[in-house]
Amino acid sequence: MSKIYSKINGTGSYLPDKILTNYDLEKLVDTTHEWIYERTGIVQRHIASDNESSVDMAYSSSLEALKKSNISVDQIDMIVVATTTPERKFPSSAVLLQNKLKIEKGFAFDVNAACTGFVYAIDIADKYIKSGLVKNALVVGTEKITSLLDWKDRNTCVLFGDGAGTVVLSASDQAGILSNTIGSNGSYKDLLTVNTDPEYIEMKGNDVFKIAVNTMGKLAVSTLKENNMNIDQVDWLIPHQANSRIINAIAKKISLPNDKVIMTVDKHGNTSAASIPLALDDANKRGVLRSNHIIMFEAFGAGFTWGSTLLKF
Ligand code: COA
Repeated sequence: MSKIYSKINGTGSYLPDKILTNYDLEKLVDTTHEWIYERTGIVQRHIASDNESSVDMAYSSSLEALKKSNISVDQIDMIVVATTTPERKFPSSAVLLQNKLKIEKGFAFDVNAACTGFVYAIDIADKYIKSGLVKNALVVGTEKITSLLDWKDRNTCVLFGDGAGTVVLSASDQAGILSNTIGSNGSYKDLLTVNTDPEYIEMKGNDVFKIAVNTMGKLAVSTLKENNMNIDQVDWLIPHQANSRIINAIAKKISLPNDKVIMTVDKHGNTSAASIPLALDDANKRGVLRSNHIIMFEAFGAGFTWGSTLLKF
């Protein structure tokens, strides 16, 4: 029997209509466009409306990904949704999405690994597909992360945005996902967290910044080493989009030219688990990704959690 690979079959994304620019934020908190742009690379972010949930966004991005792939909704046998902002505590967002898509078979569950969630979700779906148990999986990152913001806290409210991205991952006899690495260390739990009552994001930005650069930099180097690849073989780095300075530092660490880095943080802000699938779909829609291109995902988030994926597109 030939080896089973899992391969990206289609991508889709969704961004809410409402755009909040840095200039808009100047009216809400003591900040400036220049401060935000210089420190983070962010220019604007999308904000979900009151009646729009992370599941609604996941539904829109999934419909698009399904349309772009060559499989139909009734061929989906697994749904994994990476989110930290589920519509309900239960049923999971993945089950709510399954229901919206009118799927009544297979299984669906959520993954919470904060901003690393999508890479965790890819890792899990990849293993199910390679084991032969699943043929087609919907892998989603979706966040209404602005629902966790204190709009009076300039340290955090300028950084985040909402959105969703979906990938259809399918069994294939052609190489697709080449490797995944995921990890976590809860001793950093208080550096980036959501407080209760009220539920607001709290972050020690400076500490997070340094550890994010270090962790993703090392991870990118070890991913190349494990796959016996050199940097010239990598076509695209698609990192978690939190801060352009973090992204540039990772690219520098692996000597990757900036024109091989997909950057969407300027348009989207930090959309947590949605950021990598949003950036992937953005690049795909711009037509820059070719079949067999080598793509590297690098992610980092609260916990801390981290993850790296190397794949052939
Ligand atoms: N506008 C203007 N000033 C601001 C501000 C804002 N929106 N937010 C913070 N400041 C101020 C601070 O109060 C501080 O003032 P002080 O020196 O008078 O106390 C000053 O700017 C510098 O703050 P500092 O935190 O040292 O800035 P920084 O250069 O580290 O940049 C971040 C702040 C948040 C942009 C940066 O630390 C960062 O990106 N961290 C990582 C965030 C991240 O990626 N999180 C998610 C990981 S998944």
